[in-house]
Amino acid sequence: SAGPAAESRSGSPVVIAHRGASAYAPENTLAAVDAAGDLGIGWVENDVQRTKDGRLVVIHDDNLKRTTDVEEVFPDRAPWKVKDFTAAEIARLDAGSWFGERWAGERVPTLKQYLDAVEANRQKLLLEIKAPEQYPGVEKDILRVLRQEGWLSRAHVRDKLVVQSFSADSIRTVHRLRPDLTTGFLGAPPVADLPAYAAFTDQINPAHAALTGDYVAAVHRLKGAHGKPLTVSTWTVNDAAGAVRVRDLGVDGIITNNPDVVRDAVG
Ligand code: G3P
Ligand code: CA
Repeated sequence: SAGPAAESRSGSPVVIAHRGASAYAPENTLAAVDAAGDLGIGWVENDVQRTKDGRLVVIHDDNLKRTTDVEEVFPDRAPWKVKDFTAAEIARLDAGSWFGERWAGERVPTLKQYLDAVEANRQKLLLEIKAPEQYPGVEKDILRVLRQEGWLSRAHVRDKLVVQSFSADSIRTVHRLRPDLTTGFLGAPPVADLPAYAAFTDQINPAHAALTGDYVAAVHRLKGAHGKPLTVSTWTVNDAAGAVRVRDLGVDGIITNNPDVVRDAVG
C-alpha cells in the first residue's frame, strides 16, 4: 500500500499524467499513455466505464459524443451513452480526430489494452472508477480484469496501482473485496469526517482550487486504511505557478494534463 504519495514524502510531489499526457495527445487513449512515457512520466491516471455487453473501456465522459465520432457512425443512437453501446461498436469509433487530424484512428481502449500499454512503458496507474452508480457491480468487473492481466500481483499491489473514485461507496467496495489494494477518494470531505474515510482509503485527492495547507496537514495527521499517513494528490494543475503553490501546501501528488511543465516546476 505505497502509491504515489509514499514515494514522495521525502521529496517533490509525484507527477501523474491526467488521462495520460492529455495536453499533447487525445485523453484516455494509448497515444496519451505513450506521450506520458515519452516525457518520462511514471504515473498515468485514467477513467474506467462499462459497455452494454459488460466490457471495460477507458473514457472520461459517460457519453461518447465529445471524444469520438459516434454521432457520424451511429446517427440514430442518441443520446450516445457509453453503457448503451457494445465493446465491438465502441471499437469502431475514432477517439483521436476530435483532438487533431494526426490522431485519427486512435481508439477508445479496453481496460486490458490500456493496462498493456502502461506496462509496456513501465508506468504505474491511478485508475478511476468513473460514474459507478451507472454500472452496478463494476468494482468486481474491474478487479477481475486486473487479476487476469496480472495487475493484482504482489509487485503491482505494492506500488504500481491505486484505485480511486468520487464515490465513497465504490471505494469502500474495492477495499472490502481487495483489502490489500491502495485506494483514493476524490474530493475534500470536511476534516471532521476524515477519520471515517481513513477506514477504507489511503488517499484524499481534492481539486486544487480551494485546497489549503491546513487541509493537507489535517489529512496527513491521520493514518489511512493501511496504517500509513493519509496522502493527498490534487488535480488538475496545469501550469508551473499552480504546481509550485500546491507543492508548497505539502501535497504528495499532482495530477496534470501537462506533466512535463509540472515536473520542471517542482521536480
Ligand atoms: O484524477 C482526478 C481527476 O481526474 C478527477 O476529475 O473529471 O478529470 O475525472 P475528472
Ligand atoms: Ca479522472
